Amino acid sequence: MSILDNRTFQGVVSAFWLAFLAILGANFVGNLAMTGSLFGEVEKVEKFGFPIEAAEEAPAAGGEAAGGPRPDIKPLILAAKVDDGAAVFRKCASCHTVEAGGKNGTGPNLHNIVGDVIGDRNGFKTTDSLKAIPGGKWTYDVLDDYVENPKHLAPKGSMSFAGLKKPADRAAVIKFLMSNTENPPPIEASAPAAGPAAEPAK
Ligand code: HEC
Repeated sequence: MSILDNRTFQGVVSAFWLAFLAILGANFVGNLAMTGSLFGEVEKVEKFGFPIEAAEEAPAAGGEAAGGPRPDIKPLILAAKVDDGAAVFRKCASCHTVEAGGKNGTGPNLHNIVGDVIGDRNGFKTTDSLKAIPGGKWTYDVLDDYVENPKHLAPKGSMSFAGLKKPADRAAVIKFLMSNTENPPPIEASAPAAGPAAEPAK
């Protein structure tokens, strides 16, 4: 005796097929009514199993990719240690020097970078894509964004570096860059330093 002899099982199977055929049929009639074509949309049915058109449209409507506000890196920079940043900077050092008067390599010397004008590094041949970064200055937020993923702000820039995915690594390396900048802009203690008391009740 096989499972196929079981009446309940057969019932379930036929119910499933009836539902499936009903959906296919409805889609077919729908396509015919809307487009007059029998073929264009049939492909869709094969690809997705069921025509879930509403779900397909959802991401475009949400517009999430447009990018919400970035989490604030500044509190992490305040907490970061220069030494940790020096260790992270080894990943940058194959292309960048950081000391005063250091040579440009594959990338420009990064002395005094924090708060400085973007793409004006003593004679380094900067790409137009980098120069086009909005704001024109290496604020903490712009640095954070660029170091996380150089192609985000400068899609045609020449820095071939995958980026630092961990916020703590970015904060540390920025702290290190600050320690190699004569007058880094102050970090306003505007945001979270106030702690939970400042949070609106939820
Ligand atoms: C493989 C080489 C390479 C590595 C590794 C690299 N960079 Fe770069 N970097 C470049 C190049 C090339 C540019 C010039 C980009 C342009 O002009 O589009 C650049 C530009 C920059 C700039 C902009 C300077 C300006 O002109 O205003 C900053 C800031 C920077 N890099 C930081 C870093 C940091 C921090 C790291 C490590 C976490 C790093 N880079 C790792 C090659 C590299």
